[in-house]
Amino acid sequence: MAERPVLMFDSGIGGLTVLREARVLMPDRRFVYVADDAAFPYGDWEEEALDRRIVDLFGTLLDRYRPEIAVIPCNTASTLSLASLRAAYPGTPFVGTVPAIKPAAERTRSGLVSVLATPGTVKRQYTRDLIAQWAQKCHVRLVGSTKLARLAEIYMRDGFVDEEEVSAEIAPCFVERDGKRTDIVVLACTHYPFLVNRMRKMAPWPVDWLDPAEAIARRTLSLLDGRGEAPAGDRAADLRDIAVFTSGKADFAIRRLIQGFGLSLTQP
Ligand code: DGL
Repeated sequence: MAERPVLMFDSGIGGLTVLREARVLMPDRRFVYVADDAAFPYGDWEEEALDRRIVDLFGTLLDRYRPEIAVIPCNTASTLSLASLRAAYPGTPFVGTVPAIKPAAERTRSGLVSVLATPGTVKRQYTRDLIAQWAQKCHVRLVGSTKLARLAEIYMRDGFVDEEEVSAEIAPCFVERDGKRTDIVVLACTHYPFLVNRMRKMAPWPVDWLDPAEAIARRTLSLLDGRGEAPAGDRAADLRDIAVFTSGKADFAIRRLIQGFGLSLTQP
């Protein structure tokens, strides 16, 4: 059973923000990164169709890679399909990514918290339930962005982003009420941490941008504890981490990015 990888799954390159944390915590583990770029962006999909697509795709992925654990570093997919994935594949442990509303509610001083996410994550019942369960004492503003995930992809591929567009997308997160101001913005899409410095620059006032990547990596590590063994010594060096893009059409910019993250591109 040794050498079974950790599988990470996102609609695009956003999950790489979690992969980089996971690598630091688990340098001996082998990773398979899967980007469902053929269906990107997930934020615009109709729920039933997207759920079916993700569950079907996992049938193939689990057969092919036999992961020790599957991580979904994608809020849009997790808030929709985590329960269906666990029901369909009970033999595989799944780690999800859901908006960090609980830690935000614990940390806020002003009581004004914003959740920046894709339109899909914003409209999910799962997200509403998290607010009802953990943030009743706060005023939570849900902000669905139609553009930021794409802007993050462009930025990571081409090194360029239109700061005015970033500014317009984050503007609704900043709320002033009864002399208080939003002090925490939850980054509830794994693509967004790639743009956090631009967001910081364009923000009307300083806030804490909550990125859950390290927490997801720690949760994965704790669930892996005692499951399988990481490959040892020279054997570990032979086993390369791979990336799979479901379109099978990763262009030069993506290939370069993937290489920068220490992954080798494999055909789907
Ligand atoms: N990275 C994804 C998330 O965390 C979503 C991006 C998209 O496909 O719209 O929600």
